[in-house]
Amino acid sequence: MAFKIGPKIKNVIKRDSRVIFTTTREAFPFVADHGNGDFIFDIEGNKFIDFSSFVSCYNLGINGNAQIRTAAKKQIDRLMHGMFMDYYEASPVALAEKLVKMLPPGFGRVFFSNSGTEANEDAIKLVKLFTKRRHIIGFYGAFHGRSLGSLALTASKTPHRAHFGPFVNVSHVPYPDPYRFNGDPEECSQASIDFIEENILGRTVPQEEVAAIFFEPIQGEGGYVVPPRGFFKQLRKLANEHGILLVDDEIQAGYMRTGKFLALDNFGATADVYTFAKSFGAGFPLAATVARRSLGDTPSGAHAGTFGGNLVATAAATASLDYLRRNMRSMQHGIVRKGAKIMKRMNEIKDEYEYVGDVRGIGLMIGVEFVKSKERKEYATKERDKVVMDCFQKGLVVLPAGRSAMRIIPPLTVSDSSIDKGLDILEEAIKSNSK
Ligand SMILES: Cc1ncc(COP(=O)(O)O)c(C=O)c1O
Repeated sequence: MAFKIGPKIKNVIKRDSRVIFTTTREAFPFVADHGNGDFIFDIEGNKFIDFSSFVSCYNLGINGNAQIRTAAKKQIDRLMHGMFMDYYEASPVALAEKLVKMLPPGFGRVFFSNSGTEANEDAIKLVKLFTKRRHIIGFYGAFHGRSLGSLALTASKTPHRAHFGPFVNVSHVPYPDPYRFNGDPEECSQASIDFIEENILGRTVPQEEVAAIFFEPIQGEGGYVVPPRGFFKQLRKLANEHGILLVDDEIQAGYMRTGKFLALDNFGATADVYTFAKSFGAGFPLAATVARRSLGDTPSGAHAGTFGGNLVATAAATASLDYLRRNMRSMQHGIVRKGAKIMKRMNEIKDEYEYVGDVRGIGLMIGVEFVKSKERKEYATKERDKVVMDCFQKGLVVLPAGRSAMRIIPPLTVSDSSIDKGLDILEEAIKSNSK
């Protein structure tokens, strides 16, 4: 069905532009009304296949599943908001216990908040408190959120940061990007490690001042960049040698998206602090920062927030995590199989079109990078934008990432037929925009 912008959509967009601050959404005339499983419907009745999971927020299908919705509704009828940070509540405690079980041994303490950026703010405070050090290392291309602490770490686009400094002390270093590394892709990990050793610890910040290195196991907003499989073991070794903590932001890549609960598990390494949000909240604003038990506890009053651990959000998140645990094996199998199917087809498309430069990913976290030519790899931002918009008009929601990449992140429960139909639309859009 061809997309039409009807009067209801026009009306909402016009009113929005009068009263709502501009965020990031100018290009898409998309006004969601309802959704289920693989599909979203807008307020004019236009139907879309979803390859976005609403930016990785609905890993178990658009609008969650029946168990999640029932748990949330039941909790609404009992008590919507408790006073978890000041008193005690059973629901957030049960969720924390279950979350900790999904992590490597030794993980104990959980702090709940409401969004990804808050989870990273909390992690910044925790690593400073635990180490009594002030400096942090982050990666170019990273996205950790937009509030002032996390924004210090975010380095994927200048407009995110312009006019907002001064920031928390952060040194940015190159993220290993096998596709764009100037040299043998196998060597990009070592080049990043060397950069930290030589230019940060060797030249600008003594190790005694560095509290932590924050990273995404696969960069999301930065362009779906997958580092070499050995990278995080090397980073772990470096961190251990210098007494520096590792903070793994699992907000976009985690929660089974890659076929493993932690995306970092694909790289055989562990961190000291993990942050979760997006799909962890099962459709509700919920985030968690989880630290190794051996790092200690926070003194009373050092950190808290009114809504962290909200009862409806934790009830929904618990139902979602229970579903995941019950269906772990079949989900893992499905994610790996469906991811391989998408990668195969996208690689065939890449071989056919000069401006499809790279296809990469793990499980159902797949990036496609558009370039002006395969040889010189100039960013093809406009071409990428046209393909994304064309898909939208043909009934497929896909999102851009980084300067010229596109992300394919359907709900993990996506059916084979939605994959096939979605990829047909994408291929048609790539074909019609090729020169
Ligand atoms: C890896 C990562 N970290 C943090 C965030 C920030 O999350 P939120 O928008 O909930 O603050 C995002 C959001 O896209 C993200 O992808």
